[in-house]
Amino acid sequence: MIISRRTLLGAVVPVTAATGLVAGTGAAAGAVGREEGAAALRTTADGDYDGSDLWLRYVPVGDPGLLRKYRESVTAVIVENAGRKKVHRHTPNLSMAPGSTEKLVQTTLEAARDELVRGLGGLLDRAVPVKTDPGDKPSDGAVIVGTRDSSRIVRQHISADDLTSVGDDGYLIRSFFRGTQGFTVIAGNTEVGALYGTFAFLRRLQTHKSITRLDISESPRVRHRHLNNWETVRLYAGNNASGTGGLNGENGTIFNFTGTGESAGRNLPVILDRYIVAARAMASVGMNGITINLVNADNVYLTPEYIAQEAALADALRPYGIKLALSINYTAPTDPRFAPDTLTNEQLDPHGEEFRGWWNRRARLLQASIPDFTGFTVKANSEGQPGPQDFGDDHGDGANAIAAAVAPLGMKIYWRTFVYNADVDEDRLKRAYLEFGYINDERQPDGTRGRFLDNVFLQTKNGPLDFQAREPIHPMFGRMEHTNQALELQITQEYTGQDEMLCYLGPMWEEALKTDTYARDERGRLLDKRLMGHIVDGTAQGHSDTAIVGVANLGNADNLTGHHFSQANLFAFGRQSWDWTLDSADIAADWVRMTWSNRKNVVGTIVKMMMGSWEALVSYQTPFGMAHQFRSSDHYGPNPAERLARDDWSPVYYNKADSIGLGYDRSSTGSDFTAQYFPTLAARYGDIDTVPENLLMWFHHVRWDRRMRSGRIFWDELVYRYQMGVQYVTWMRLTWDSLQPSIDARRFSEVKTKLTIHEADAGDWRDTCVNYWKEFSGRDNPADNGPLSIKIVVGGRTIGAFDPSASSYRITLPAGASPKITKVIPADRATRYEILSQADDVPGQAIVRVAKEDFFGPIVKDYVFVIERAHP
Ligand code: GCU
Repeated sequence: MIISRRTLLGAVVPVTAATGLVAGTGAAAGAVGREEGAAALRTTADGDYDGSDLWLRYVPVGDPGLLRKYRESVTAVIVENAGRKKVHRHTPNLSMAPGSTEKLVQTTLEAARDELVRGLGGLLDRAVPVKTDPGDKPSDGAVIVGTRDSSRIVRQHISADDLTSVGDDGYLIRSFFRGTQGFTVIAGNTEVGALYGTFAFLRRLQTHKSITRLDISESPRVRHRHLNNWETVRLYAGNNASGTGGLNGENGTIFNFTGTGESAGRNLPVILDRYIVAARAMASVGMNGITINLVNADNVYLTPEYIAQEAALADALRPYGIKLALSINYTAPTDPRFAPDTLTNEQLDPHGEEFRGWWNRRARLLQASIPDFTGFTVKANSEGQPGPQDFGDDHGDGANAIAAAVAPLGMKIYWRTFVYNADVDEDRLKRAYLEFGYINDERQPDGTRGRFLDNVFLQTKNGPLDFQAREPIHPMFGRMEHTNQALELQITQEYTGQDEMLCYLGPMWEEALKTDTYARDERGRLLDKRLMGHIVDGTAQGHSDTAIVGVANLGNADNLTGHHFSQANLFAFGRQSWDWTLDSADIAADWVRMTWSNRKNVVGTIVKMMMGSWEALVSYQTPFGMAHQFRSSDHYGPNPAERLARDDWSPVYYNKADSIGLGYDRSSTGSDFTAQYFPTLAARYGDIDTVPENLLMWFHHVRWDRRMRSGRIFWDELVYRYQMGVQYVTWMRLTWDSLQPSIDARRFSEVKTKLTIHEADAGDWRDTCVNYWKEFSGRDNPADNGPLSIKIVVGGRTIGAFDPSASSYRITLPAGASPKITKVIPADRATRYEILSQADDVPGQAIVRVAKEDFFGPIVKDYVFVIERAHP
């Protein structure tokens, strides 16, 4: 039975491919839950937990020895002068909604103190007292938080010099212990730094790490770590099943600006619990900004009525160090909603006073209510959004005009480079650099290079197309040395399974950030530091203002992200934007411990599921560098045959399928996009023999019979790769079942349901794409040489040629032959197999499970044989 997202529409119908036969594969870790409904029997007090605390759940430490140690080392919280430094609050009637469990605080140290009380109370399973005055010497077990300004103990124990090294947002955590006697100091130069340190300390307990010999010094590599919250599109966490919609008259967005119907009276300045949970979660991983509206911006966000609501939101987020920004529309000044303060089209001259004056007035209006408002994100001349080019100006003119208008207010402009004007070049991937590169290179009257002002960031997606599951890095990284550049990553899973597929994006971002750009200086010498991460954090080319932006996935669903595992992507984004050198597997392990369990087998198993999940998705959606094969209606399922009004929106434009092969030639024999990279990468990507195979079709049209590194021909390898992606999802589904005893009931069953849908939809990707490619290759699916291919011996005959894409196989035996499978012959010797069931008679059914560990993780296939007797 195929259960797909389309047919299911959110209903909960758990179905397994082979009910009752899931036990025993070596590929699935540990015992496998056998009875449906067993979860219900095991329901514990928190069996109905819905995921709404994200990774800040603070369950009691389960290991008694560790709990005892933690309790010895932590007996009190000391936060001196917690209430002294009140953050700005604009909105007098700011209030939590009645019945809320979160609460509003007015200082960052109060936020830190309350987090410790909540976190330690939960983890240690007993209340931890708070002291405001430590006396002469901190008591044993005290955890002290503050700055040298707020806290006498911090002043006594942490020198100003030591703190200087961690900057504004960094922190120190130091143990002053002798044996079990002693205390811990968490200090920052700012209260926000101290808050980050507090979360880092709690994370150590949440992940069962030692807390007694600490000498931690941390500071972020990137200065602005922001979310772009697309509140109306690509939001897969709205709390009803139809996607972005919401219940009770709310839309699906996390922040409620338009409460009507049953939600009337619940829009801002009423603060809902989830706003504070999101703020705490963002701060816990060091995020410090949020642009709250979609890049296709609605001007309503600039009206006084909305600004009043934004101010209330900013008030609530401010203690957590999170600052607000807005997306704007370039022609907003002409919107009649701003009458009488409106401009005509003629007045939209970026060099003129009227245009600049208008933006300055609007920004001042915002700043009057939100003093720390950070600036604007702009999508201009992109996908129908207006921009300077509509008036004969270029991106440099437009960005600089608004930047100059807001610079005196200390604000910045994040100007997106996601542009692809078809007149610029036939190859969409080349257009952004062609539109921005020359402005970066332009010599200025004062002799310097680069026209963009200092308070402009060019915000560029990691890859040159549009958040595809695997892209080469964008060639602009490293090429824009005279311009501030912000990296944009997509956390919301538009092209990576939305809210249905389990896909951990940490490894994808790690791959991009650790890619060598081979950037050179103006004299052609290779830079010392030249990974994409070095470009982004400014160390490659000496930029001091740096930014990473994540298109966010927060909605008003109970668990805030739709899929429970999508929480991991938000977590990983925060950690990687703080320190891009981190290992995504370590981040996953932290998240699993904080979110699911600290039990070793659970951590190991879930981390393993997560770590292969992205490569599996690449495999069943767009293997070997295939780009954008999504149906246009929702960007979830496949439609490789689709041809849209715009060429460069069409899957056929990207796949270029023909009788010779598949893929887009962007080498010097094709569009020559490869020339936009620095020479080493240009040469590597430009040559079909040296390009990494996982980027093959981004750069080359590949012949169906090309010999791949495995020795197989391209066609065979391609089909097997699609199959492997699905086979990994099968492994995840079986493996998740094995975790049932260790996972709380509600979340277990919600993930289980999603994995069933995931497996079916992955199969749909495989079949839709392969069947379409077949029309061009004229070849059949390969059968006997795949990673999980087998032959079987039944009734004395060896039978093979089983297409691993099929869900079952009909076998016809001659009269008198036994239906027993007497032998299984795998193609690959590394394969393990198990006969899960046998047919005793004919007609009957036998199931053989085949599994192996492949390059991105375990893969599993159940061969279901329907065995019949030949009619005489
Ligand atoms: C993608 C997405 C759009 C979005 C665009 C952007 O194309 O589908 O919804 O507006 O990216 O980044 O601006």
